[in-house]
Formats: sequence, structure tokens, C-alpha cells
Amino acid sequence: MKHLIDPTDLSVEEIDAIMDLALDIIDHKDKYSEVCKGKKLATLFFEPSTRTRLSFEAAMMELGGNVLGFSSADSSSATKGESVGDTVRVVSCYADIIAMRHPKEGAPHFASFVSDVPIINAGDGGHNHPTQTLTDLLTIRREKGRLNNFTIGLCGDLKFGRTVHSLIKALSRYEGIRFILISPKELRVPDYIITEVFEKNTIEYKEVSTMEEVMDELDIIYMTRVQKERFFNEADYVRLKDTYILDSAKLKQAKSDLAILHPLPRVNEIAVEVDDDPRACYFRQALNGKFVRMALIMTLLGVHA
Ligand code: CP
Repeated sequence: MKHLIDPTDLSVEEIDAIMDLALDIIDHKDKYSEVCKGKKLATLFFEPSTRTRLSFEAAMMELGGNVLGFSSADSSSATKGESVGDTVRVVSCYADIIAMRHPKEGAPHFASFVSDVPIINAGDGGHNHPTQTLTDLLTIRREKGRLNNFTIGLCGDLKFGRTVHSLIKALSRYEGIRFILISPKELRVPDYIITEVFEKNTIEYKEVSTMEEVMDELDIIYMTRVQKERFFNEADYVRLKDTYILDSAKLKQAKSDLAILHPLPRVNEIAVEVDDDPRACYFRQALNGKFVRMALIMTLLGVHA
């Protein structure tokens, strides 16, 4: 049995196979419409979500399976004091696979020790979000035609943004990726990303504080929201929340084939006027999330068309 807790739980070859399967699902939806018949996915969301939970549920339904679960800790027995371990042990009696989001870093990892079925980390605190990473990789592959040899700018809350941490870990294993980290000093990537990922693997990166100084270098810009829920005080959030706003004026300096990604939800960091720019990929990215989760569910359950 395999779990997906950290993006590096999957080898590059396994990630590429999931991408290939997702692309085949996109082209041949009917072929996959009953492959999970009789199987159940449980979505245990102790923290809010729109895309991740609903795309997981839509994914399982489009594979012919069923879904059960809860969308907040308030509607589960966690409110009565039940532990994550007991919750997961019980739900693994009812479902064949579990997607779990939790505000505490490491909670899905802990769950994987007590579960009788595969656990998928659907986001743990400010740590990791590996299925968003699979979504991002599929989007890059579809938009740019490759997963190597480009410059990517990661912009915004690089400290608390779990999507950024997971994406860096995954992309750093592909050839010729150059990272530009755009953030205020308070929201720089955690030190372990610098030492354990960039320096250890001799990966080219630089840290800057404005978008404007690097916009013309970028093949991809990955915008992120400032993660209000991870701040210890409101004043710091208010001071930092609108540091970066990508708008049409800034995009005048960018390459004509720039890909603009955002895991969503967006707050103010991309002006709505950008949505009509053909370089804006973020809603296509959200759709890719459903296809890649279909491929992941099939892979972890070991089912084939
Ligand atoms: N990208 C993402 O994780 O969105 P949700 O929080 O809506 O699931």
C-alpha cells in the first residue's frame, strides 16, 4: 500500500506516469467511467477547501466510485475530542482511500501509520500540498509542453504557502529549472528549502523583493495568496497582504508565452483584468486538478482501464 504525504513520496518516473494517465483520461473519458465502480473515497477535511475537496469528489464520481466524508472539523467527532488517529482508523473501515486536509503539519503522515487504506495529504498546515503539485505539474506540461528547462518565479507568501514548498521539491528534480523567489523578507521560503533542496542539489535560485525586476526573465509565474490563517497577528497580515498585485501593466514587461499560475483561492494578488489574458492559466489549472486526482486515485488503488 502506498500513501502520498510528501511530493517526494513519488519518484519522477511515477509522477510522469500519473501525468501520462491524466492526459489519457482527458482524451478518453468514457474509457475510465467505471474503473472505480464499488470503490469509496473518504474526504476528511479538518480545514476549509473548495477546489481540493470538490475536485477529489468529482474525480471519484467520474471514475464510477462513491464518496463520503466531512468538510469541516465542526461536523465530525473531532469536536467531541476524538483524535486524528482514531478518526482515520475508523474511516479506513468504511472507505478504500482517504484524502485528508488538516491544519497541523504532519497530521496526514501520522494518519498513514494507523490507516488500513491509502492516505492522500490534501494539505497539512504550511507544510505540503502534494496533489496541488501534481495539478501544477500537469498544468505546466499542458501549457509549456515540458517539465524541464524553464525559469519559474514564485511570488507572494513563500513562508506559509504549502503549495510553493511542494512545487519546489517536485520541480527541483527536473533538469534545467531556475527558481526566482519573489517575496518580502518576512515571507521568504523556510531555511530548509534553501539548504535541503536548493543548496544540497546545486539548483540555481535567487531571492528578490519585486516582480518588476525579474518579470522579463520568467517563463512561468506562480502567484500565491498571503496565508491569513497562518499569521500570528492581524497587523502583520494587513501590512503584507497586498505586497504583490499582478495586473495588465506589469504583464507588459513579460514574455508573450508566459504561463500565469495560481493554486487559488485568489484574494487581490491577480487583478481580475488579467483573467482575459491568454497567458492566465489558473482556471484551466483548477480543471487539471480533477484529472490529475483521477489519475492519482487509480494509481493508489491499483486499478486500470
Ligand atoms: N488550491 C487549493 O488547495 O484550494 P482549496 O483550498 O480551495 O482546496
